[in-house]
Amino acid sequence: MTDTSIAVLVGSLRSDSVNRKLAELLATQAPEGVAVDIVDGLGTIPFYNEDIDNASEIPATAAALRERVGAADRVLAVTPEYNGTMPAVLNNAIDWLSRPYGAGAMVGKPFGVIGTTPTPYGGRWAHEDAARSARIAGATVVEDVTVSQSAIEVDVLTDPDVLARLTNAVRLLAEYDAATAAA
Ligand SMILES: Cc1cc2nc3c(=O)[nH]c(=O)nc-3n(C[C@H](O)[C@H](O)[C@H](O)COP(=O)(O)O)c2cc1C
Repeated sequence: MTDTSIAVLVGSLRSDSVNRKLAELLATQAPEGVAVDIVDGLGTIPFYNEDIDNASEIPATAAALRERVGAADRVLAVTPEYNGTMPAVLNNAIDWLSRPYGAGAMVGKPFGVIGTTPTPYGGRWAHEDAARSARIAGATVVEDVTVSQSAIEVDVLTDPDVLARLTNAVRLLAEYDAATAAA
């Protein structure tokens, strides 16, 4: 039985993306009762434009994003860093999810961000920026989840310590309880 579902937004469209492979690996290793749904097709969603959003029908890809994230209990971004921030594809997804203002699909939802880059910082700025945007879009950012994993000295897809840290991040997000956190 699934107790908690996590919608995953991957910030890289590259076919050989390490972050996508990590997301797929984490989906197979999710804790008992946790379903991980990698939301595909982010690259096919048009750039956010209020004219498109205010039209009688929004693009199917954007509607599907809102539906999948809206149906999930948690949201996890798994992303590299591009030029010191999150890749545009992730930023665009968050923009679509941030509207209607105050009633977007992420409002009140626990949000975490992880990812890896082949630099000493592991994408830290991208992760900070994604967390800030998600917070402004109404999500509850679970800071403890964040892992900015450098891929310089390890194979992040096989290293047991890295995988333990990342599976723990998924567990923390799944188990996050707003009431306990506020106490
Ligand atoms: C346009 C572009 C900009 C990048 N900028 C950064 C950066 O600012 N910081 C960083 O750590 N890595 C940067 N990188 C390297 C990416 O982190 C690296 O390519 C990473 O493996 C991409 O993740 P992926 O394997 O999931 O596609 C950049 C790569 C590209 C293509």
